[in-house]
Amino acid sequence: MAEQEFSVLILAAGKATRFKSEHSKMLHRLAGRALGEYVLETVLGINPQRIYMVIGHEAEEVRKAFAHSRITLIEQKPQLGTGHALLVARPELAHCPSATVLVLVGDAPLLRGETLRALLAAHQRARAAATILTTRFENPYGYGRIVRARSGQVRAIVEEKVCTPAQRRIREINSGIICFARAPLLAHLPALSSDNAQKEYLLTDLVEIFNRQRLKVAAFPVADAREVLGVNDRVELAQMEKVLRRRKAEALMRDGITIVNPECTYIDDQVEVGRDTVIEPGVSLLGTTRVGSACALRPYSTIIDSVLGDRVTVRPYCMIRACEIHSDVILGPFAHLRDGAVIEQNARIGNFVEVKKSRVGRGTKASHLSYLGDAVLGEQVNVGAGTVTCNYDGEKKNPTHIEDGVFVGSGSMLVAPVRIGKGSYVAAGSTITEDVPPESLALGRARQTNKEGWARTRGQGKPTAGITVREVGPVTVFSVSGRITMGDPATQLGQKIRQALEGGRKQLVVNLADVVYIDSAGMGALVGATMAARKSGGQLKLASIPPKVRDLLEPTGLCRVFEICHDEAAALASFDVGRHA
Ligand code: UD1
Ligand code: CA
Repeated sequence: MAEQEFSVLILAAGKATRFKSEHSKMLHRLAGRALGEYVLETVLGINPQRIYMVIGHEAEEVRKAFAHSRITLIEQKPQLGTGHALLVARPELAHCPSATVLVLVGDAPLLRGETLRALLAAHQRARAAATILTTRFENPYGYGRIVRARSGQVRAIVEEKVCTPAQRRIREINSGIICFARAPLLAHLPALSSDNAQKEYLLTDLVEIFNRQRLKVAAFPVADAREVLGVNDRVELAQMEKVLRRRKAEALMRDGITIVNPECTYIDDQVEVGRDTVIEPGVSLLGTTRVGSACALRPYSTIIDSVLGDRVTVRPYCMIRACEIHSDVILGPFAHLRDGAVIEQNARIGNFVEVKKSRVGRGTKASHLSYLGDAVLGEQVNVGAGTVTCNYDGEKKNPTHIEDGVFVGSGSMLVAPVRIGKGSYVAAGSTITEDVPPESLALGRARQTNKEGWARTRGQGKPTAGITVREVGPVTVFSVSGRITMGDPATQLGQKIRQALEGGRKQLVVNLADVVYIDSAGMGALVGATMAARKSGGQLKLASIPPKVRDLLEPTGLCRVFEICHDEAAALASFDVGRHA
């Protein structure tokens, strides 16, 4: 039997109440594409005479997303049910050239063209007025149930909400995909009404209307039930995502691509990958990305709308968007490439290098910590660590040209617009504001001066240590802070302790809690004070020694010279203040 001419009507106007969204369900992303695109692609693949799409909820968004010369968009406003969608489309369908109209729901992304062709053929064979694509679900909850007569004729489709307990047990369900003979469809559509439990015009009511007219309604069961799974809420969206990703990963693996862990690899539907490429866990290949063969995609990189040649290595944690990466390039780890960057063969973009709208020539290397924006780099250029093309002057972006064989020393600022001529050298740490002629050395930094001995005299004459003196019963406490170093600080500390001893104070505590540094002179002052205290029959204890100071004391063996207490309270207690009071 010759294949008949047919047209398709896609229902896509619904509010998607269960999605709880401001946006049309058709536009929600599923494995990298709008949900509605899946059915549309399937439909385009079977080549109908006309394609109509009923849109309504967020119609403007949907219109933009699905603008296609082959699709006639029909607006349904308000949306009063699937039957109402057909009523709205009726004037268009009246001019449709095909004898058969295939009605599809927009939310069945796994549907295959072969299945639709088989449905059309079955419809033609049965000479039916309508043929419903059905399937059996273990759990048919939520779907319209198929009520059949003993002859096999479909008597009715009963929606979940109005099912009797017996009908609820029926496992055969309506996929929402129905093939109609156009003439009876147009003739009987006006008989639909919203006078039912749902207060909606139900497309499925046409089955009973056709039965009353003694028109034949057939059913065509689909082999793989999953094909007609709908996406009615975001839980189902995630489940569908998993199915599609798994399917994509399996197709790639069968084509000779290694995917180390498909469960945590995200590859969009349209992505292409060449043989012997290895994709490690956490990699996302999104949008229209095409990866060549024998590439190594190490963990956790995201590659969006980009083209990679063969034998490209993407080390972990790279972000690549809208770029062209030629063969044998090595990227990352932690490289960021974006906005039309082109990396030519054998080039190397290393860690913490960002490349934007730039062309990087063959064999050129930017291995560490750089920004290349609006730049054109020739071949065999060496970009030193920390080089920045300063492309933005506050108003506009300016270009940088770095010609073949240039060596840019580390930490250079190339202030655009600027050109570094072929074979030139830029001295490390330069700020380059003017063009550099070929084969030159550009030095753009202040000459270094060394001030000898500066460090030794640094900080002299400045008050560095603070000393406060308190009396707690018979004990005198010296709280010292800052740096106890040669000169005033050390001398002052020694003096203050001797003064106290001379005044008859014999029990002394030096609290070092706030000391940040102590040099040998400071240490000497403490040793001297300890000896002086002993000589006059007194005792000096150190308290709260910071770890840094302790590190200085320990190797010198001075720990044993001093009496050290954990903190001031412990020092006071050890003097047994009560006994003397
Ligand atoms: C529908 C069927 C149900 C079937 C199921 C399969 C009806 C009454 N019920 O239920 O028997 O088992 O699909 O998935 O047909 N739409 C419009 N305009 C409207 C309402 C909906 O264009 O006014 C579109 C939606 O955007 C969607 C499709 O029609 O693409 C189906 O609507 P939906 O609300 O998902 O119907 P279901 O309750 O799933
Ligand atoms: Ca649905």
